[in-house]
Amino acid sequence: MRLANRIALILGAGVAFATPVAFASAASPSEHARAAAALADIKIAITTIMAAENGTTSGPADYVQAAQSAINALVGSKDPAFDPHVPNPGDATGSMGQVNALLDQTATPPYVPALHGVQINELAAVAYLQEAVKARGLNAFQTASSSALENLEVAEGRTSQYDVLGGMLGAIANTTLAVPDGAPTADGCAAPKAVGYGIHHGWLVWHAVKPGALSIPATGTASVKKENGMLVLYTAAAPMVQHHCATHAAAAAVVRPVAYTPPVKRPTLLIEAAAHTAASAALYTAAQAASGKAVFATNCASCHGANLQGVAAPAIAGTEFLKTATSNKYTVSILNTIVTQNMPLNNPGSLKPAEYASVMAYLLASNCYPAGKTPFPTSPGANFGTAIVGVQAHPAGTPDKLGVCPVN
Ligand code: HEC
Repeated sequence: MRLANRIALILGAGVAFATPVAFASAASPSEHARAAAALADIKIAITTIMAAENGTTSGPADYVQAAQSAINALVGSKDPAFDPHVPNPGDATGSMGQVNALLDQTATPPYVPALHGVQINELAAVAYLQEAVKARGLNAFQTASSSALENLEVAEGRTSQYDVLGGMLGAIANTTLAVPDGAPTADGCAAPKAVGYGIHHGWLVWHAVKPGALSIPATGTASVKKENGMLVLYTAAAPMVQHHCATHAAAAAVVRPVAYTPPVKRPTLLIEAAAHTAASAALYTAAQAASGKAVFATNCASCHGANLQGVAAPAIAGTEFLKTATSNKYTVSILNTIVTQNMPLNNPGSLKPAEYASVMAYLLASNCYPAGKTPFPTSPGANFGTAIVGVQAHPAGTPDKLGVCPVN
């Protein structure tokens, strides 16, 4: 199944620097605390499953309980998948609850794409663990739990080996998620003058400590220098951010750490329906959609169905998909992250950038988005602003009875 080393690069030349956001009056847990809790729960799930897989003497009752404990750690006690009747039942929020809370804000700090990746990998892990709970026999258990482990390893991330924003670890190592509540911060574009964290537009550039003050963490630190009598740990994101500092010197004047913003008040149903009527931005060319149809047939149709209506996997076009997209608040950026990072589910990252772009064009066309003159970009981290995936106000073409627009 999914290989951890296939994790897609989400950073690139086209990475967007989010507008800095003012401090919120933070009565809720800090983003650092939420991220640490989310990571801790992923680790608990991994060690619980591994212990069950390695325990040669353990019988069905033990490994089924282990899979359920892992589910609990991920989903939290308010989720229907939670079951309190196992040892170490977990807590109220669970890893996914913490990740959702971090994503549930109006700002888009740089960790957002990484956390979308974490989210979808956790969802897939829970689905496999639910299979593991139902498994009859050790073999079936191991097949399901190994797949869950692969998803969880991607969700956990390996900053030393993979892209700087790989999984929870990568996001924590390179963004404001690293900064404990109340810790001193400074402009990440400037050289460190005192102990603390150097931040620029939500990215962590450096962490300055007194020599001997802490053992240097193995992950997340790309280089260590002695400056001003301090040890300065530079992140993997530092070179990219420093380049941005040099070219946007003026923008650096307004750097503030991105603070957790409480969820926005839910609008009324009427306004919400209007807000989710997608703007008909022309995001791809007709030629791309046509070649994307062939890419889809080869790489996606086996699971999602020839007409995109879902077979082994959910529908990804039409009324049913747009309901999911609306309730999950999918933007084109999120959809692009899901497809380029996680699909095809049995071999993520295996398509060429141009193939991913054309299959995205095919998905947009099938969801009745209009074609235009600008091709869909090949960068997995491309930013589509606030383009929402939803029902088109003026569909391009006539949707069939399932709400899918045919593509020729
Ligand atoms: C081996 C089966 C498989 C293949 C092949 C596959 N997918 Fe998926 N896909 C899934 C499953 C299962 C899910 C649901 C995962 C989840 O909910 O965590 C999914 C989810 C998605 C979603 C999100 C749907 C939603 O409701 O959130 C999109 C979009 C998607 N796939 C697109 C693609 C594209 C494009 C391809 C081909 C490049 C592809 N998939 C290939 C199994 C597959």
